[in-house]
Amino acid sequence: MSLLPADHPLTGATASSPLVRAYSGERPPVTPVWFMRQAGRSLPEYRALRTGTRMLQACLEPDLVTEISLQPVRRHGVDAAIFFSDIVVPLRLIGVDVDIVPGKGPVLANPVRTAADVAALRALTPDGVPGGLFEPVTTAVGQLVRELGGTPLIGFAGAPFTLAAYLVEGGPSKDQLAARTLMHGAPEVWADLMSWLAELTGAFLLAQVRAGASAAQLFDSWAGGLSLADYRARVAPQSAAALAPVRELQVAGAASNDGRVPTVHFGVGTGHLLGAMHEVGVDVVGVDYRTPLDTAAAALPGVPLQGNVDPALLAAPWPVLEAHVQDVLARGTSAPAHVLNLGHGVPPETDPTVLTRIVETVHAASGR
Ligand code: CP3
Repeated sequence: MSLLPADHPLTGATASSPLVRAYSGERPPVTPVWFMRQAGRSLPEYRALRTGTRMLQACLEPDLVTEISLQPVRRHGVDAAIFFSDIVVPLRLIGVDVDIVPGKGPVLANPVRTAADVAALRALTPDGVPGGLFEPVTTAVGQLVRELGGTPLIGFAGAPFTLAAYLVEGGPSKDQLAARTLMHGAPEVWADLMSWLAELTGAFLLAQVRAGASAAQLFDSWAGGLSLADYRARVAPQSAAALAPVRELQVAGAASNDGRVPTVHFGVGTGHLLGAMHEVGVDVVGVDYRTPLDTAAAALPGVPLQGNVDPALLAAPWPVLEAHVQDVLARGTSAPAHVLNLGHGVPPETDPTVLTRIVETVHAASGR
């Protein structure tokens, strides 16, 4: 158990924010709301800043990261900032040749498929990652939380399975066939790769939280392609290991959440995995748009939920979207606490004024 510094935002500035309270299982007077992929291409001010800078380069420039993370907070009045970065940033920093191709996603120069490929990954040190590896990240988090004041910052990482899927496939894939083949065909290679990823992910999350993030979200976006048995046996233990460094932190003097840093776990198409995803040791489960929140709440008694407005409806006529938002809020009352979000990320073509309107609607509805 290690202690976070006494000046960490969770000890004061963000401790009583609606987001931290909801993540800790309370129902604040106003339902908090933020959007996955709120920092990004739906905002013209983001596109203007990013002109001429590649995605992964932008993630390593603290001033750009700070500004891009703040943009949706200023514009929409959301209850949290999410750190502008990407799940492949720790891979790039540790030396994996990965790039993000616009319109496609992460692409690897050399897919990782054999014992030799895994052995060639840069070794991690016994107590984590080589010193200074995450310096651009911690610098950005530090200056960002100073700007945010009482608005919490959510740090995040990709879960070992989703990262492994990109590494093994060499890029985006529909059903992660090569990754699932490796999992069964070469279980030792799979286990070594997953352990390396768990350690890297754990260090990346810990770096963000130590530098000032008030919560941490683990994205296992592609876990929905797994059977429950495979998830439990070959994936969940490494997700638990990735979360452990943040779970072991104690926030000095914090009343909420027994002094722990709240953690969230999200995946797409994971209705059959919700219980198992909670059991890896998180406070909050993020639900995609396929599972209604009251169904998720019945499967996860006592667990705060996050979600799950269908991104497709962002482009529907406002009365249709508004009715859907109200329905999500109503179903969210089945859980002990609810943070409104989308069921997956903001589509790039979304009209940003619609997102602002959702925030206003959610805040007004809960104030009634
Ligand atoms: O606003 C935020 O949510 C914070 C930043 C964030 C990004 N990626 C920035 C980004 C977060 C939390 C992510 C997570 C992420 N990245 C996930 C997990 C969540 C999910 O969507 O399931 C995954 C699978 C990735 C990998 C990735 N990176 C993909 C699939 C893409 C899209 C490629 C494309 O162009 O369609 C990216 C690129 C990316 N990550 C962008 C942003 C803002 C777009 C890059 C650009 O602006 O050119």
